[in-house]
Amino acid sequence: MFVIDILDHGKNNKLIHANKDVPIPGDGDVLIDIKASGVNRPDILQRYGLHPPPPGSPSHPGLEVSGIVMDLGKNVKKFKKGDHVIALLGGGGYAEYCISNQYLTLPMPDNLTFVEAAAIPETYFTVWNNVFRIGNLVKNETILIHGGSSGIGTTAIQIAKEFGAHVITTTSEKEKVEKCYELGADLVVNYNSHDFVEEIKSSEFNEVNLILDIVAGDYTSRNYELAAMYARIIQIAYIKGSNVNLDLSPLMRKSLIHTGSVLRPKNLSYKTAISIDIEKYILPKIRNNKIRPIIHSTFDLREADAAHSLMKSGRHFGKIILTQ
Ligand SMILES: NC(=O)c1ccc[n+]([C@@H]2O[C@H](COP(=O)([O-])OP(=O)(O)OC[C@H]3O[C@@H](n4cnc5c(N)ncnc54)[C@H](OP(=O)(O)O)[C@@H]3O)[C@@H](O)[C@H]2O)c1
Repeated sequence: MFVIDILDHGKNNKLIHANKDVPIPGDGDVLIDIKASGVNRPDILQRYGLHPPPPGSPSHPGLEVSGIVMDLGKNVKKFKKGDHVIALLGGGGYAEYCISNQYLTLPMPDNLTFVEAAAIPETYFTVWNNVFRIGNLVKNETILIHGGSSGIGTTAIQIAKEFGAHVITTTSEKEKVEKCYELGADLVVNYNSHDFVEEIKSSEFNEVNLILDIVAGDYTSRNYELAAMYARIIQIAYIKGSNVNLDLSPLMRKSLIHTGSVLRPKNLSYKTAISIDIEKYILPKIRNNKIRPIIHSTFDLREADAAHSLMKSGRHFGKIILTQ
């Protein structure tokens, strides 16, 4: 089968066209004929050797797919051949076929195209896990989401709003600000033209109960400034760096919880718990058109390098998808 693989992990990395054997589904696995694959920022980190596949996962990139079940391993009860599905993968989504554990495979909502459906697993699992399972966001609380235009941000804005939170987000340019409002955000701050701390402090919200942060660096102390008593700060990336100089007094004074997570290396039972929640709480809302994946653009799988260049440029709003 055709795959996109990575040559020379590190600063001289390259995406290459390659061929590998079609994988054989093991006990509890399904073989998927991939129709579309989501591109995620961690795929770019993988090229630099910074986000390796967990043991047992294919070495070629790709964390999420939509497609059609082609074959079943032993003990697969949930699916039959021909079912349309989405799947969260440890790797291997940039390919014609992949195998996925049945518990991390979900029925594809039939109001979505394969392109839209491929945008769900990595971002929705990550957002659900961090905002609700770890962050315990509840109705009427205020959440601050940094990177509102990202795949993660466009998902988090919609889900948090749908579950009754007040949503504040930061983004980099005027056009993205308008699009974040269209997604339902209550306050959007352009961090290039405005100071997000001042803007939020002078707004009706004043402070926030939960922060989903992908930036870190100098944002960390600024997040602490905005945090309400007992606020939770959830770190899922550190675009501005993981080493920070920090005054810890607000952490103690306000009893803050600052934690974080990385989805990819977590074990099957951890991811299965999220998968059960996604099927129960999120897929019905997608089927009812309450929330939807936001697609910026699609590329042919063979043009994955161009898709990565677009992602690195930061010009996109929502998800970039590879098709075949
Ligand atoms: N921990 C996990 O399990 C996990 C899982 C998936 C993704 N992630 C992380 O979540 C982040 C989003 O992932 P994604 O796939 O949705 O990526 P993405 O669509 O490429 O989004 C990245 C966004 O970050 C914002 N950004 C870039 N540089 C910035 C800066 N200097 N200051 C502030 N914001 C900046 C930009 O949005 P604006 O223009 O709106 O600011 C950019 O579009 C990535 O950092 C990724 O590594 C973590």
